[in-house]
Amino acid sequence: MARIIAGISSSHVPAIGAAIDNGRTQEPYWQRVFSGFDKSKEWMAKAKPDVVIGVYNDHASAFSVEIIPTFALGCAAEFPPADEGWGPRPVPVVKGHPELASHIAQSVILDEFDLTIVNKMEVDHGLTVPLNLVFGSPKEWPCPVIPLAVNVVQYPPPTGHRCFMLGKAIRKAVESFPQDLRVVVFGTGGMSHQISGPRAGLINSKFDKAFLDNLTKDPKKLTRISHLEFMREAGAEGIEMVMWLVMRGAIDDKVDEVYRFYTVPASNTAVGHIILENRQRAGAKRKRAAARPSKRAAPSKTRRAAARVKTAVRRGK
Ligand code: DHB
Ligand code: FE
Repeated sequence: MARIIAGISSSHVPAIGAAIDNGRTQEPYWQRVFSGFDKSKEWMAKAKPDVVIGVYNDHASAFSVEIIPTFALGCAAEFPPADEGWGPRPVPVVKGHPELASHIAQSVILDEFDLTIVNKMEVDHGLTVPLNLVFGSPKEWPCPVIPLAVNVVQYPPPTGHRCFMLGKAIRKAVESFPQDLRVVVFGTGGMSHQISGPRAGLINSKFDKAFLDNLTKDPKKLTRISHLEFMREAGAEGIEMVMWLVMRGAIDDKVDEVYRFYTVPASNTAVGHIILENRQRAGAKRKRAAARPSKRAAPSKTRRAAARVKTAVRRGK
């Protein structure tokens, strides 16, 4: 059976990709950002997932304004990097996992999440920058990646609650896939930022830090944040954070926060990053407890004997 071992979230600022592609990662401004991902690369090298599900948003690269799917699942074998204006990024082609992706599509659509099946798609910085941040710059990405594109560029994006519930449906889908695969779910985008208009440059660290705290401890609270509140508190592009809730819905209710990083700014954006692990041992404990006979459901011989004695005493025998 496939299972989700962890969830990761990180911002996907395109300038981070440009810093990598142009060899500027050691400049003090960028060093501050990249050093925050050293531990994540170590974690990834140990975790060695078999598949990543990358929840990201397309920034009018694969989808023009003509067609904007709310949720689009990449079921293809390959996803080349998109040309975002300076030619495609010099990063490896993302290799998909068509079998697992098609299984997820079937499972979540039958669970009434009507996502769009995409059999041909280029992927932009929304996906490739987070891959760089946790895998570095290898010749090939170390595992297949299933892209799940979420519309957060044109109103109305899905609600945080819908994203969270989709995460749960994805988990159910993964856990019904017969092959033994260890899966990590990425939520990308955010944190607070606004790129244009009178509030361009807006960053709200207080909001971001509370979001990170609740992502670990009380994600249901985050599912109640309205679009208006995201806009007001985290800027117009802060709405990207709903994608973190797909990741959060796909992992356990109680998780271990194994790493967190936050720095301001990178380009226009507050960079946030978190790694949340499922508690595998707790799962094993629950299974053991379930295997034990329940005291109430099936009274043991001694308890039945004790009850007979008590009744006899009450009757004065
Ligand atoms: C920036 C951040 C984004 O998430 C994005 O998609 C584009 C630009 C920025 O900070 O410049
Ligand atoms: Fe973005």
